[in-house]
Amino acid sequence: MALCCEILLVPSKMLENSLPKCKKTPWTRARRWVCFLMLFLVMGTSALIFYNSSPQVSWPLNVWTIKLLPNQSHNNVTPSVSSIPPADLSQSEYFVPYPHQYHFILDEPNKCQQESPFLVLMIPVAPHNREARDIIRSTWGKEIRVLGQVISHYFLLGLSKEEHEKKPLEEEILKESQRHHDILQSDFLDSYRNLTIKTMVMFEWLSSHCPNTSYAMKVDSDMFLNIHNLVNMLLKAPRHLYMTGQVLRGVYVLRDSTSKWFLPVSAFPESTYPSYALGMGYVFSLDLPKKIVEASAHVKAVYIEDVYVGLCMRHLGLSLTDPPHGLFIATIPFFRGSCYWTSVITTLLENSNQLANVWITYQTQTQSGC
Ligand SMILES: *[C@@H]1O[C@H](CO)[C@@H](O)[C@H](O)[C@H]1NC(C)=O
Ligand SMILES: *[C@@H]1O[C@H](CO)[C@@H](O)[C@H](O)[C@H]1NC(C)=O
Ligand SMILES: *[C@@H]1O[C@H](CO)[C@@H](O)[C@H](O)[C@H]1NC(C)=O
Repeated sequence: MALCCEILLVPSKMLENSLPKCKKTPWTRARRWVCFLMLFLVMGTSALIFYNSSPQVSWPLNVWTIKLLPNQSHNNVTPSVSSIPPADLSQSEYFVPYPHQYHFILDEPNKCQQESPFLVLMIPVAPHNREARDIIRSTWGKEIRVLGQVISHYFLLGLSKEEHEKKPLEEEILKESQRHHDILQSDFLDSYRNLTIKTMVMFEWLSSHCPNTSYAMKVDSDMFLNIHNLVNMLLKAPRHLYMTGQVLRGVYVLRDSTSKWFLPVSAFPESTYPSYALGMGYVFSLDLPKKIVEASAHVKAVYIEDVYVGLCMRHLGLSLTDPPHGLFIATIPFFRGSCYWTSVITTLLENSNQLANVWITYQTQTQSGC
């Protein structure tokens, strides 16, 4: 079983190769049948997921997933406003210090206005992650004119939290910024728990620096991005009050304290989140940043960045738009056609190193007439 079924655990790439050969004793034959049965089940499930057509049910399958939980009312969790303790929750670990006047210590104050790009890509990345920035600069970040439209990108950084390596790192980042002119660094502490601050300073920056830009996309550094398909979609998209991406609706708030995205009833009494676009990649028209920043004054800044943007959108009374089917993909699918990378807009990769390889495949597919 172990030998033959190892195939079930290896990455999908290896599955495209042949099955391992097993000696044919009656016992191995029996095991093979069990293996094939399991393979069949796995493939059937994957096929279901792959062909799933409704965005509401095509839930991402990896750690990004905010799981759809069964109706929790039987757990005696009866969320209501009255369950908020009277104490001030602003110091709570579930909120970030925002609104607050953060300052950019590395900036590109005139570039966006001068270039007037059609689309700006905003990429949150940790200060020390030079490698991810370089991979993006040599893959989708180097596409500066697509379908006649000007595209530009900026990396969003906070302050490094590693005290001991702070000085040399800040000097490296300064050099990198002088060389590439694509770094925006603000003076909040860069941490996973502070991503909401990063997103909000992004909206602040966009609203004041890009007067002649139509769209922006917030996109994580471990994403594959097909800018050609993105621009093609945007050329037909609404110009105002528009936000799209992988839109989740009616997702239950995670009340399990071991979850990465745990929110207790005391911090967030509603049982479901408002509709929101998954944070790994969402696109919006450039009239939204100013409105979202304004809304943030009235909406408590919960640490889950994409949920917070959804809360601000609800405060504004704005709804999100589903993208055309199959363009925003949360994980590399188990089965991929030979033109997969030319057919999507985004796909979440395992890490940003994978991007370099995927990019080569993407270019091969483009050249082969996909
Ligand atoms: C959850 O259950 C409660 C009570 O049974 C019901 O009122 C509510 O509509 C249910 N919510 C969903 C999303 O099914
Ligand atoms: C978030 O940033 C603020 C401002 O820099 C800082 O005071 C706070 O400690 C940071 N929180 C975390 C969890 O990193
Ligand atoms: C805005 O950008 C377009 C092209 O991207 C350009 O033709 C136009 O002159 C720009 N307008 C301003 C006010 O910069």
